[in-house]
Amino acid sequence: MLPCMTTSSPDPSALTFPDGFLWGAATAAFQIEGATTEDGRTDSIWDAFSRKPGAIHEGHTGDPACDHYHRYPQDVALMKDLGLQAYRFSISWPRVRPDGGAVNQAGLDFYSRLVDELLGAGIRPWLTLYHWDLPQALEVAGGWTNRDTAHRFADYTQTVFDALGDRVPTWTTLNEPWCSSLLGYGAGVHAPGRTEPKAAVAAIHHLHLAHGLGVQALRAASSTIEIGVTHNLYEITPDSDSPEDLDAARRIDGLQNRVWLEPVLKGAYPADVLEDLAPYGLSDHVQDGDLQLIGAPIDVLGINVYSSHRVKAGDKSAAHGPSQNVGAEEVQFLDRGLPKTGMGWEIDPGGLTRILQRLHTEYPGTPVVITENGSAWEDEVSEDGAVHDIDRVLYLDEYLRAVHAAIETGADVRGYLAWSLMDNFEWAFGYDKRFGIVRVDYDTQERTVKDSGKYYAAAIAANGLPAEPPAAGYGQQEVHQG
Ligand code: FCB
Repeated sequence: MLPCMTTSSPDPSALTFPDGFLWGAATAAFQIEGATTEDGRTDSIWDAFSRKPGAIHEGHTGDPACDHYHRYPQDVALMKDLGLQAYRFSISWPRVRPDGGAVNQAGLDFYSRLVDELLGAGIRPWLTLYHWDLPQALEVAGGWTNRDTAHRFADYTQTVFDALGDRVPTWTTLNEPWCSSLLGYGAGVHAPGRTEPKAAVAAIHHLHLAHGLGVQALRAASSTIEIGVTHNLYEITPDSDSPEDLDAARRIDGLQNRVWLEPVLKGAYPADVLEDLAPYGLSDHVQDGDLQLIGAPIDVLGINVYSSHRVKAGDKSAAHGPSQNVGAEEVQFLDRGLPKTGMGWEIDPGGLTRILQRLHTEYPGTPVVITENGSAWEDEVSEDGAVHDIDRVLYLDEYLRAVHAAIETGADVRGYLAWSLMDNFEWAFGYDKRFGIVRVDYDTQERTVKDSGKYYAAAIAANGLPAEPPAAGYGQQEVHQG
């Protein structure tokens, strides 16, 4: 049994979430599964990228990750112990259609077993079709710069639906296509590691199209499943009211938020972003009918929020900003002096409240679930064998309070999925960054629930938070065996 918090009588000033609020945790296939060559799986772009010298911290690869491919029964048991109501996982495309080609039944069978295990534990499976692991063979054929990849995605969607559609209630097409396009093809820090701004812009549209075709296939296949997409959003604030700073913020907001939200929720690219990206040919890729597909209604918008940005105009003669910001390379991202996580990301829970309020105001009528939020820290295992990760406990607590605050002002937020269930392969950072509420010892594959996991389990059990944030000694004095 997990420890629970000491409680006497219910605290009337505690923060309670709405009935039915969905509490869960998330992972992604490549980050946890391992078994990258087993049962017919072939390379994804991340397998290829991780073999590129210098691409990944200390040359780490997707093996063995958390060995979840073999250990999924115990991982599901752990989820049940934590009281998770939902588990968001992703399907590895090259496991179920190796090289993007024929169907691989052994790969599908793995996910079928996982889904059954979840359902048996009373946990709602939340499936993401694409969390960045494109079959490498499709990258060789142009990857997301090739319009045909979107059609291959629709075929793959159909394959997964045929196998799991009877048991999975929620389907997300894509996870964070901002990363797949702009980090993968623009900045080159994610697979496939290309640094071609025009390719990144082509990828933006083809990923959108893949989403649209995926929704079309899923809608045709079922009238009961919930369908959505996940975008990573940031609150962007200008450093001043000067026209230059306002324009810098507009451009970054366009690339980070609106170029993703508006086609899906309004059926059109924002005019100013089309103009910003005209030199990179965004509209050249848009064909008749694309935006109708992309703008087809969804049932749930997933958002991943970790931080927020303040920006100011930079010197046009020198690019200061991150190179993924196509058409806005000169924008400067400011250090506001806020506390930072182990990723160097500023902690700004108010930014999440305001994003949720903005979605409610600007895109009304779309229920939102936070499909990822969490923080990396340099965890240590104490002598008592526990992981007293108070920084992660506090981050989790503050961001959950921020979600609650948004709900109080009317935002339609239906759930929260913590990133991540367990420590895992953090992309270019390899195993160096730990986001889990459960620790993974990569030598032994032992799992240890961290204090943050215990805090989260208590929040789920209470459907809310205590009136006061946890004290510094949380996990050391205040927890007893329940
Ligand atoms: C998100 C990714 C997820 C994880 C977190 C920390 O951008 O979707 O896989 O890496 O960041």
